[in-house]
Amino acid sequence: MVSTRHTAELSADELTEIRALLDAVFVDFDDHDWDHGLGGQHALVREDGLLVAHGSLVQRRMLVGGRSLRTGYVESVAVRSDRRRRGLAGQVMAALEALAPAYDLLALGASDEGVPLYEARGWQPWRGPTSVLGPSGPEPTPDEDGSVYVLGGQDVDRDAPIACDYRDGDVW
Ligand SMILES: CC(C)(COP(=O)(O)OP(=O)(O)OC[C@H]1O[C@@H](n2cnc3c(N)ncnc32)[C@H](O)[C@@H]1OP(=O)(O)O)[C@@H](O)C(=O)NCCC(=O)NCCS
Repeated sequence: MVSTRHTAELSADELTEIRALLDAVFVDFDDHDWDHGLGGQHALVREDGLLVAHGSLVQRRMLVGGRSLRTGYVESVAVRSDRRRRGLAGQVMAALEALAPAYDLLALGASDEGVPLYEARGWQPWRGPTSVLGPSGPEPTPDEDGSVYVLGGQDVDRDAPIACDYRDGDVW
């Protein structure tokens, strides 16, 4: 069963366990990637006490059409390699998507492996150009165009340019 907890409610041991799962699942998972998934809600699935699936949702700001959208941004979705295609990521995503009423929009940067999962759940690709509001001003992020997915935000034009707030490491 999935449980949802804020970063502040997780013990040091639980955080270490989550980091170990993410290090095992993602190639070159670094301290910036780790940081990106902290400071929000974590969805966790355990089987016989073992952490087998994780995802988190943190708040970011997206600038679209002159509006700063309060955005729930999904990070660090990972399922142990020996437990996949059993609906565990689906459980994690359902728990995170349930937080949508708190936001104008939900968004994420999809890995190639994640795309079928998100599309199956109704997430849609952002069609407009992406950029970041970097420390030296706006910067296009063309390598990310097409890999940003959103859910909700019915009044938001997915063909418009979208700019994310800045963070160290991968900005999307
Ligand atoms: C992507 C990932 C999280 C999916 O986890 P999972 O527990 O296997 O996913 P689920 O079993 O919940 O899949 C739910 C649905 O998503 C789709 N889906 C998930 N993985 C898929 C795949 N590899 N190929 C095709 N469809 C897939 C299917 O529709 C699936 O339903 P089905 O099994 O009934 O067909 C997992 O493969 C993973 O950890 N990959 C490495 C890390 C990663 O890329 N994370 C995403 C970061 S953006």
